[in-house]
This record gives sequence, C-alpha cells and structure tokens, in this order.
Amino acid sequence: MVRFENVGLRYGSGPEVLHDVDLSLEPGSYHFLVGPSGAGKSSLLSLLYLARRPTRGLVTMFGSDIASAPRASLPEMRRRIGVVFQDYHLLDHLTTFDNVALPLRVAGVGSAQIREHVMELLEWVGLGDKVDVQPPFMSGGEKQRVAVARAVIGQPDLLLADEPTGNLDQAMAHRLMRLFEELNRQGTTLLIATHDTNLPLQFPHPVLRLDQGQLGLDG
Ligand SMILES: Nc1ncnc2c1ncn2[C@@H]1O[C@H](COP(=O)(O)OP(=O)(O)O)[C@@H](O)[C@H]1O
Ligand SMILES: [Mg+2]
Repeated sequence: MVRFENVGLRYGSGPEVLHDVDLSLEPGSYHFLVGPSGAGKSSLLSLLYLARRPTRGLVTMFGSDIASAPRASLPEMRRRIGVVFQDYHLLDHLTTFDNVALPLRVAGVGSAQIREHVMELLEWVGLGDKVDVQPPFMSGGEKQRVAVARAVIGQPDLLLADEPTGNLDQAMAHRLMRLFEELNRQGTTLLIATHDTNLPLQFPHPVLRLDQGQLGLDG
C-alpha cells in the first residue's frame, strides 16, 4: 500500500524535519504513529496524503512512485485515502451532514443511500442532533467527530488520522477507536498519529515511533 525508502523532508531552506525514513504499510495493516510534539508526525502524514513530495528518497503509494506518477493520477490516489486532519479542515459553509456526505457525492452514490449512511454514522459518533449545524457553531470535539465521520464514510483503502481523539473525552475516544477497528476489519489500512501514549496500550497494534525526524518500530 505504502513504501518509503530513505525519505527526507525539509521545509524551504530550513533543517530537515524527517531523516532517512523507511516505512512499509501492508494492505490491511494498522499502526500507531507516536512521538512528542514537533517530532514530525504531521509532516510524515502530509507525505502520505500527497500534500507534499519528499525532498529526497522514494515514496511509493498504491504501487506507483509518486515522483514519476503522472500528475493526473494524484487525485485518483487521493480519493482512496481518508484523512482526519489535526485542525479538521471542514468546510465552514456546509452543514455537518453535507461535510460528511461530500466523499460519497464525489463518488456518485445515490442520495437515498447517502442519507441513510450519513445519518447512521452521525448517530454513532453522537452527532445525531448536529446534522444541520455548520462547523463555526460547534465545539472542537464536535468538529473532530465530523472530521472523523467524513474521513471514514467512503471506506477508504487507507485511513490517516492526525490526533483524532485529541479533543474527546475517554468514552467518545473509545467509541471512535472501535469505529477504526471495524473499518480495519473491513480491509482499510490505518495509520493513527497520536501523542497519547495510552491509546497503543489499549489497542494491540504495532507502534511506529518518531523522534526528532527519525522513525523506529517499538518493541
Ligand atoms: N509548514 C511548515 N513550515 C515550516 N516548518 C514546519 C511546517 N510544518 C511543520 N514544521 C516543522 O517541522 C517539525 C515537525 O513538525 P510536525 O510534523 O508538525 O510534528 P508533530 O506533528 O509530530 O508535532 C517541527 O519542527 C515544525 O516546526
Ligand atoms: Mg502534529
């Protein structure tokens, strides 16, 4: 699904923030990505969702080297990836329903099916009463749940989540983690970035650790 070889990333002329990253995500795998704030977790994810290209090394996604892949193939690859951004990236002028429905509309799913699917998921994440509300009128935790719902609704091949439980209480965090488990059982490959060292203790998935831009596997 994903292979990184000797990947390095720097922003502009600044120092390298990722060094010699080797990473391989097999289809159907589930990893946590941990590391202190500033370690490079969000930067690594931005390479994975194809927002950036590495400054050195090789990134292969879905079997294609992204440096030589035709530009026109990138949107197609992105559609296979669900992303929960640390700062949500919701569309402020759309309601909760329409934010979450977006990936299904892009995929051409019929409106009756969209309605059923979106409502079911919104009930699951505890937003059944926020369906018609726009993001500016919601709390951080509510927006985070909208972002998670939007990322998972289309059953992406790869789900990348950046601190997806950062603004949630324990019970809701656990509920979302169960949603991720279910998605993984249905075949989605997951990488969940967190600085919460508790999550990897509760769910038995291998842990990738980033420290000052270097990646290692725990245990
Ligand atoms: N857009 C950017 N421009 C310049 N430096 C950045 C940018 N984004 C992140 N950085 C730097 O890259 C390093 C890693 O940051 P980040 O990937 O956000 O880490 P984490 O998500 O683990 O907290 C930090 O030193 C941060 O300041
Ligand atoms: Mg981050």
